[in-house]
Amino acid sequence: ADDRVSVSLTVNGTDHELDLDSRVTLLDALRDELGLTGTKKGCDQGACGACTVALDGTRRLSCLTLAAQCDDREVTTVEGLGTDGEPHPVQEAFVRHDAFQCGYCTPGQIMSAVCLLDEGRTGSDEEIREQMSGNLCRCGAYSNIVAAIREVAENA
Ligand code: FES
Ligand code: FES
Repeated sequence: ADDRVSVSLTVNGTDHELDLDSRVTLLDALRDELGLTGTKKGCDQGACGACTVALDGTRRLSCLTLAAQCDDREVTTVEGLGTDGEPHPVQEAFVRHDAFQCGYCTPGQIMSAVCLLDEGRTGSDEEIREQMSGNLCRCGAYSNIVAAIREVAENA
C-alpha cells in the first residue's frame, strides 16, 4: 500500500511541501525533514511537553500529532520566536530569571508560555503553574519558570 502523503506545512512563516510517510509525527517531520531540532523529543508519548509547538497559534504536543494532520496549517517552533540578537520577551525573561539549567525542557516551556500568554491564561502564579503542568522539568526549575512567565504577563 502506498502510505505516502504530501503535506503543505508553513513553519515559522516559510512554506514547505513535504512528501512523508503518513505515520510520521509532526515532531519527526520538524526535526528530521526540516532540520529544526529546537523542538525536543523527550518521552515521545505525550507525557513531558518537551515537543510543544504552536499549531495555528494553539499549543500542541508535536509527538502526538501526525504531520499529515497539519496540512495547510501553520506551525511555530522555538526557532520562529526570536534570534540571538533579538530574542522574544519570554526568552529574555527565562534568561533573566534563570528559568533553565540543562535547557532540555526549555523550548517546550517557552512555546507553552508564549501560547498561554497569548490566551491570557497567566493571571496568577497558581494559574501559571496549573497551565504549565504538562511541561516537565527534570532540573526542577519550576519556580523560576513561573517567575519568568509572571514577569512577562505583568508587563504585557
Ligand atoms: Fe512529546 Fe514528551 S516528547 S510530550
Ligand atoms: Fe533541565 Fe528543565 S532545565 S529539564
